[in-house]
Amino acid sequence: MSLWTPKTAIKGHNSKRPSSGLDPRELLGPKGGEPIVGLTAYTAPTARCLDRHIDFMLVGDSLAMVLYGMETTRTIDLDTMIRHGYAVSQAASNTLVVVDMPFGTYEHNRRIALENARRVMDETGCDAIKMEGGAELAGTVTAAVDLGIPVMGHIGLMPQRVKSAGQFKSKGHSDVARRRILKDALAIAEAGAFAIVIEGVVETVAAEITKATPVSTIGIGASAACDGQILVTEDMTGMFDTFKPKFVKRYAELGRLMEEAVIAYASDVRARRFPGPEHTFKKRAKKPASK
Ligand code: KIV
Repeated sequence: MSLWTPKTAIKGHNSKRPSSGLDPRELLGPKGGEPIVGLTAYTAPTARCLDRHIDFMLVGDSLAMVLYGMETTRTIDLDTMIRHGYAVSQAASNTLVVVDMPFGTYEHNRRIALENARRVMDETGCDAIKMEGGAELAGTVTAAVDLGIPVMGHIGLMPQRVKSAGQFKSKGHSDVARRRILKDALAIAEAGAFAIVIEGVVETVAAEITKATPVSTIGIGASAACDGQILVTEDMTGMFDTFKPKFVKRYAELGRLMEEAVIAYASDVRARRFPGPEHTFKKRAKKPASK
């Protein structure tokens, strides 16, 4: 059974983003410098806001839950990821853009994985893709890298393997789990990934992986031991409040600010305070006819 999504996406264009010239390996690869800063971006306005302040932005498949209100990330399709990837890539001119390969588009068949990865690169204009998976995915990562497609790995808690919201649990508590995650990290690094996201992993294991792998580790719920950090922008700005994972720090309460704005607007409309004269088009005075 092929899970490949047919090409129906953005009508009639490939990406028009001029090559960003950003080299993921050069930008995120080296270890030991300042911590790497990543955030998710799903839309052009968010991408413009992040563009000068961070090292990379991820068009994460978390948009399934955050933007589309789905229970897990497993139900978002390739065309939707491409549309958001395109919007973000066009709006980001300084920052490396990575786009998630969604569930079912790369795990089962290497040829299909490469076709889909190529579509994401060509149709969004992004700089790299991200795939969730451990040692079993290493061959696909190498094949993509050999084709010139930069790959970011993602190990530990892999949301695409979570079938219901209650299964989002941290990893690496037992010695068996520790060894498996370490093996995954080494296999993905060896396969040619330029960086690896470690999600929801206990601190000691994240530290061990960061020490053992030659490529940068990007933590989300994986402690300060990683070479960099990423958060979902809507989590850390308070726009998504369905639930708040332990590892999220809220830097703003934009959801509350938005609700206050909505309440003020509704009250103005009901009291006929909005729109005012400054928001209203007046009929232009007729020009006198020239003689
Ligand atoms: O989909 C996502 O947002 C991710 C994270 C690493 C935040 O994969």
